Amino acid sequence: MATAYHRLLASDQSDQSNLSRDDLEKELDDIVEANSSPRPRFTLRRALELAILMASLMINVFLVMFIYSRPSTACQSRDMGSDPIWGVSGPLYSPAQSAIRYEKRVFDKVGIRGKYHNPPSDEKDALWESLYHMGVSWITKEEAARLPNWTEPLPSPGHQEKEHYIVNLDVFHQLHCLNFIRKALNPERYGPPGLGPPIWRDDPTPFDHTDHCVNIIRENIMCNVDITPNVWQWNPERNVIFPHFDTIRTCRSFDAVLDWARERQVQQMWNASLHLSLEHAHGL
Ligand SMILES: *[C@@H]1O[C@H](CO)[C@@H](O)[C@H](O)[C@H]1NC(C)=O
Ligand SMILES: *[C@@H]1O[C@H](CO)[C@@H](O)[C@H](O)[C@H]1NC(C)=O
Repeated sequence: MATAYHRLLASDQSDQSNLSRDDLEKELDDIVEANSSPRPRFTLRRALELAILMASLMINVFLVMFIYSRPSTACQSRDMGSDPIWGVSGPLYSPAQSAIRYEKRVFDKVGIRGKYHNPPSDEKDALWESLYHMGVSWITKEEAARLPNWTEPLPSPGHQEKEHYIVNLDVFHQLHCLNFIRKALNPERYGPPGLGPPIWRDDPTPFDHTDHCVNIIRENIMCNVDITPNVWQWNPERNVIFPHFDTIRTCRSFDAVLDWARERQVQQMWNASLHLSLEHAHGL
C-alpha cells in the first residue's frame, strides 16, 4: 500500500509522518531512496547495512512462519494470537501507534469520591469535557493509505493543499459517550436525555444516544478484555474477604495519546458537506 508514496516520502524527509512509520519500513525506504540520493551507492558500510537488513528480514520471516505453524491452543485466536501490550505483533495500524507508552497505574479505591465523581458541577463538567474535546485529527496521505479502510480528505483550507485526511481516535469518542451516560444519570441537572432523529432514512425509530453510548462502552470493554486480576483481601472492618479494584495494572498512557491528538488537532472550522475527490483513497 505505502509503496505508492515512496517518491513523496523521499522528497519530504522532515515530514511528521515519518515519526509514526515503523523502523522496518523506514529501512526499506532508505534502500529505495539510495538510488536517487547523492550518497555513494556501494560503500562498504552500505553493503554491510544491507546484509544486516537482509539477515534481519530473513529472521523475521522465519519467526513469523514459526509462530503461525505452531498448533493453536484452545483459547488462542487463530489469526491474532498476540497481544500488543506484551510486544507481540498483530494489531491493526493506527497513525497514533508511535504515541503509545505503557505505564503502571493503581485505580481508585472503592468508595473514594474523586474529581470525576458525583455530585455534578460546572467544574466537573469542564473536567470531563477536557478529556475528549479534541475535534478531529488530521493525518497524512501516507498514514491514510495504511488504514484498514478509507477515510475522507479533510475539506479545509490549509489541510486541503497538504492532502490531509480525517480521523478521530476512538478513546475520545468513548469518553464522550461515558460523559453522555453520566449526564443521563443526572437528569435533575442536565434534563432528561432526549432522542435524536432516526439515523437511517427508512427506519422511523428515533436515535437513542444514551443507548448507543452504553453499547459502545460494552463493545470497548469486551474488545479490550482487561485481564488484570483483582485481588481479594481480608477486610477486618467487615470481617469478610473483600475484592480490590485498586489493583496495579498495565495501562496505555492517556496523556501521551492526548499529546498526539493535540498536535494533530484540526483547529479551523471545516465543512462536512464538502466531498473532495477520493483519488487518494485507501487501496491505491
Ligand atoms: C469499510 O467501510 C465500509 C463502508 O462503511 C464498511 O461496509 C466495511 O465494513 C468497512 N470494512 C472494514 C474492514 O472496516
Ligand atoms: C458546505 O458545503 C456545501 C456543499 O458544497 C455548501 O452547499 C454549503 O453552503 C457549505 N456550508 C458552508 C457553511 O460553507
